Amino acid sequence: MRDRQRVQNSVRSQKVCAPRNQSRHKSAGIDVSLAEITGNQAQELLRQKEALRAAERKYRQIIENAGEGIFQSTPEGCYLMANPALARMHGFSSPGELIRSRRDISREIYVEPARRDEFKRLLEQHGVVRDFEHETFRKDGSRIWISVNARAVRDEAGKIQYYEGTAQDITKRKRAEEAARTYSRRLIEAQEAERRRISRELHDQVGQILTAVKMNLHALQQKCAAAEIVASIEDNMKVIDEAVDQVRDLSVDLRPHLLDDFGLVVALRWYLSLQTKRCGVLAELTPESLSEDDRFPSELETACFRIVQEAVTNVVRHAKASRVSVVIERSGPQLTIWISDDGAGFDMTVLRNGSATLGLRGMEERAQALGGSLTIESAPHLGTEICARFPIPYRQGRTLAEALAASSASN
Ligand SMILES: Nc1ncnc2c1ncn2[C@@H]1O[C@H](COP(=O)(O)OP(=O)(O)OP(=O)(O)O)[C@@H](O)[C@H]1O
Ligand SMILES: [Mg+2]
Repeated sequence: MRDRQRVQNSVRSQKVCAPRNQSRHKSAGIDVSLAEITGNQAQELLRQKEALRAAERKYRQIIENAGEGIFQSTPEGCYLMANPALARMHGFSSPGELIRSRRDISREIYVEPARRDEFKRLLEQHGVVRDFEHETFRKDGSRIWISVNARAVRDEAGKIQYYEGTAQDITKRKRAEEAARTYSRRLIEAQEAERRRISRELHDQVGQILTAVKMNLHALQQKCAAAEIVASIEDNMKVIDEAVDQVRDLSVDLRPHLLDDFGLVVALRWYLSLQTKRCGVLAELTPESLSEDDRFPSELETACFRIVQEAVTNVVRHAKASRVSVVIERSGPQLTIWISDDGAGFDMTVLRNGSATLGLRGMEERAQALGGSLTIESAPHLGTEICARFPIPYRQGRTLAEALAASSASN
């Protein structure tokens, strides 16, 4: 009996973990055969398999009924998995149709393939991306905006096997933002048109009238013999000279003709040298990868000029700086302007909590209206740097047909 018990114990120790009820049987002194152990295990395995299937069914249902798009895709640009919401978002009738029809996500899904490169770069570097926004072609060629959260899944060697994540349709929000930008752009355009009109009026009308009055006074002075009256005419001519200068300055401040006629670099150089003369702050322009002949769309040149104008006015009014530097750089599809001073700086938190700051807000609005952005860095005693970035307008007209043609040509 003792030998038999030993054999049973050794058999048990060779088997995978015995089920719990088995030890109960043993302690109760009931003999348990090998066949019974296997049967119990088989039942347990079956139970586990069923639980697994139930869990799979549950998660499949969640994935299939989710409002968000869910996907797995390869770095090479194929979908491995997509749920119905993702297929609907892209205008396909089923995930299968989407997976079969789109074999090059970068070209056939992304409106701007460079955004896909950026997506891959971020995943390679950080392993995850959050709220990654990009414009997407639907099946019928229309465009929507989606926001993606994703992670990279790597093998044991660390190589990326695939990406997986969720996608949300944010087209409504993007269209609302675009509408707000268009509205703000129109307001700015209307304001600039009005400034241009008043500037021309001042220069051509008021300036001419003052010059005519001066010539009349001059003629009168020639005819007049009375010393007292000649002196008075002389005084009046000086007043008119001052008025002519002020009208010219006003006209130029309202709308510098150099900007329209010769472009941004020339207009900025002229404006900064004027500020150096007028205000005693050394103001310098450094154009990088840009020459005086480079021209940009008028609204972009105007936005850059106005931002520099407001920033330099702020330096003169608030910074007590000795110098201000303006650097303008064209780099790929982007135009960037930095305006930095060595003045008093200011506390950004105080400013954010404070009330209206129309100058800084105006600069930001001008940048955003053209799809750009504005950042401000400042701290007490450390000066201020304002940076405005603008996309240089590029052809927006890539259609799905062109995208598919380019994709098949490269395959
Ligand atoms: N370069 C700078 N150096 C120091 N302080 C600055 C500078 N630029 C802005 N500030 C601070 O930020 C505040 C907000 O600037 P903003 O241009 O918005 O308004 P403002 O110049 O006071 O008035 P305005 O609406 O006429 O432009 C200023 O009042 C000033 O305190
Ligand atoms: Mg200001």
